[in-house]
Amino acid sequence: MHRRRTDEEEVLKQLRKARERDSSYRSDRVLSSMCTHPLPVAAEAHRLFMGTNLGDPGLFPGAAEVESKVVAELSRLLNLEGGAGYVTTGGTESNVQALRAIRNVSDVEDPEIVVPRSAHFSFDKAADMLGVRLRRAPLGGDYAVDPSGAEDLVNDRTVALVAVAGTTETGQVDPVDELAEVAEEHCLLLHVDAAFGGFVLPFLDDAPEFDFSIDAVDTMTVDPHKMGFSTIPSGSLLLREEELLDSLATATPYLTSDEQHSLTGTRTGAGAASAYAAMTRLGREGYREEVERCMGNAETLARGVGEVPGLGLSLEPVTNVVSVTADEPHRLAAKLEERGWSVSVSSLPEALRLVVMPHVTRETVEQFLDDLEDLA
Ligand SMILES: Cc1ncc(COP(=O)(O)O)c(C=O)c1O
Repeated sequence: MHRRRTDEEEVLKQLRKARERDSSYRSDRVLSSMCTHPLPVAAEAHRLFMGTNLGDPGLFPGAAEVESKVVAELSRLLNLEGGAGYVTTGGTESNVQALRAIRNVSDVEDPEIVVPRSAHFSFDKAADMLGVRLRRAPLGGDYAVDPSGAEDLVNDRTVALVAVAGTTETGQVDPVDELAEVAEEHCLLLHVDAAFGGFVLPFLDDAPEFDFSIDAVDTMTVDPHKMGFSTIPSGSLLLREEELLDSLATATPYLTSDEQHSLTGTRTGAGAASAYAAMTRLGREGYREEVERCMGNAETLARGVGEVPGLGLSLEPVTNVVSVTADEPHRLAAKLEERGWSVSVSSLPEALRLVVMPHVTRETVEQFLDDLEDLA
């Protein structure tokens, strides 16, 4: 830190310079991210609630009320009646907390949880912190988890199964209904990671069932800061039983509340306000239109890829992620990066991973296909 004060203008000049080097989702050449530009009203809501602290709700009853409205709205969207939840910093916190709640209510020594091989790396962090062992269930040819492969891993120490609704690498949706049967058969809890798919699947006409309408689903992750048009940080954890949330309670002697359930202590109300703004502004009608547009663009991209010699699809897009097979995906990705595209390569399958978020327009998809044809 400097010894003396610095002019405000100078401070901002330095920061603007740094910010110019960052991607802007508005540039729409970013096909590697599951985040997008927030709605203007969501950004404004973020600014309005930036100085609030949900970790001390007695001081910020307005922010606390907004948070409970977001949880109620998300619960309605995902067919959870009653239940509990809170606004998190994102999918990682939600997955960690879901596994923590599951561990806390399960009376098993050295607990194990069966996760699909496609599960996000946040589960590795959770397992490391919580002392839970992960068992990785195999995927089928369509990159969805194989329920009988998952069942084969169940033993006396297994406390839960995880399903992913919209995987990070391929956008595939695991067969939650079949995993639910396995969970019921073996008296296991079931967590659904819908960090990405939670704001996509409810707005698709022929989406598979994945949410609390399936009785065996106990907890769910869904992120407004991915397909929800909210600002970062904005995630959520929903739990069917209050008891699961209670198992996360920690006494908070010096605050206005007696206890808190969140992982972080001081936590901004900006994410909750932003999610509330986006959901209220768009409504189901708005999300449906946005999801239709993204899926339309993803399908155009997938069809175009199919026409490029040497390229193929790992699977037909289930959500707005396109997984492209190529001889050398890393080399192709590097060449695309040279032309100003941000793309990524998935590991399972090893393929070019293209996420068709709302900032990706039809025109962008066409330009991308031209470059792809040129480079492949
Ligand atoms: C399916 C899934 N779960 C969890 C996460 C982690 O979310 P976050 O990066 O918001 O912590 C991601 C991130 O992309 C994801 O795709």
